[in-house]
Amino acid sequence: GGLHTIAKANGKLYFGSATDNPELSDTPYVAILDDNTMFGQITPGNSMKWDATEPSRGTFTFSGGDVIANLAKQNGQLLRGHNCVWYSQLPSWVSSGNFDAATLTSIIQTHCSTLVGHYKGQIWDVVNEPFNDDGTYRQDVFYNTLNTNYISIALQAARAADPDAKLYINDYNVEGPGAKSTALQNLVKQLKADNVPIDGVGLQGHFIVGELPGNIQQNIEAFTALGVEVAITELDIRMTLPSTPTLLAQQQKDYQTVITACKNVEGCVGVTIWDYTDKYSWVPQTFSGQGAACPWDANLAKKPAYDGIVAGL
Ligand code: XIL
Repeated sequence: GGLHTIAKANGKLYFGSATDNPELSDTPYVAILDDNTMFGQITPGNSMKWDATEPSRGTFTFSGGDVIANLAKQNGQLLRGHNCVWYSQLPSWVSSGNFDAATLTSIIQTHCSTLVGHYKGQIWDVVNEPFNDDGTYRQDVFYNTLNTNYISIALQAARAADPDAKLYINDYNVEGPGAKSTALQNLVKQLKADNVPIDGVGLQGHFIVGELPGNIQQNIEAFTALGVEVAITELDIRMTLPSTPTLLAQQQKDYQTVITACKNVEGCVGVTIWDYTDKYSWVPQTFSGQGAACPWDANLAKKPAYDGIVAGL
C-alpha cells in the first residue's frame, strides 16, 4: 500500500504532502499527488498565505487556495490550511500600515475568521513561526503592536469561525528539546491556562541529512503531555549537492528516525512532507547549494528515503 494507507493501518490520521498551484499542470506529478493511498492530506505551499488571500485590506481572493482545496476534496484528502498569521509573505499594507492595537486586532480577526470560515472543518496553522531560535518572540508587526496577545486573538477568531477546525501553532527548530521548544511549550501552557483554544502544535521538520536533533520522540511527548496533539507538518531533509549514495543512505535513515518518533507517540497524528518530489522542493531556491531533500527525485522516481518512511511508519 501507499504511505497514507500504511500510516492509517498503524493508527495515524494521515500521511500527507504539500503542493503548490504552478505544479498542478504537471500531469505525471498530479497523478501521484491524487493517489489517496499515498497521500491522505494536502497542504497548500503558498496559496493560502496572507499575500495571496488578502492582498489589500478587506479584499479576499481564494482562487488559488480553492484549486488545492477542491483537489483535496475530490480525492478525499484532508486539507491543512496554511496559514493565518505569519511575519513572512505578508503584504506591506499589514507590515507597514502602522496600525494601532485596536485596528490591528480587527485586521487579524477579519483575516483569520474569513480564511477559517471559507475552508471549514479543516486543520489550520493559525500562527506560523512566532519564535526566534533563542525562544524569544519574533519582533514582527504583530508582536510589536500587540505583544503576545496577537496569538490568542488569532486563535479565538479561528475558533469562532469554525468550532470544528483543529487549530495549530506551527514552527521550526522545535523538533528536539531546546530553548525554542521550551518557549513553545510555555506558550501552550499559558494558552491552556487562559482557556484560549489550541488543539495542536506543528513541528515543521526542515532538517539536514546527518544533523537530526536528538530526542525527537521525547520532545513530541513533552507537547502531548500538555494536552495538545502534534503533527510533523513540513518534513524535508536536505543535503549539500551533489547527492551521493552515502548521503541518500543517511537520508533514508533520517527519514525513518523522524517518522518512527511520530509513530511511537499516540498524540502525534500525522506527517506531511514539504512536497514529495525534488522537482518542486523549495530547498534549492532557499538554501544555496543544497537540495535533494524529498523522498522522490526530480524524475518522480522513489529514492531510498521512501523506504525509510515505510520502515518508520
Ligand atoms: C515556503 C514555500 O515552499 C516557498 O515556495 C515560498 O517561496 C516560501 O515559503 N516554513 C513555512 C512555509 O511555514 O510556509 C515555507 O514555505 C517553508 C518554511
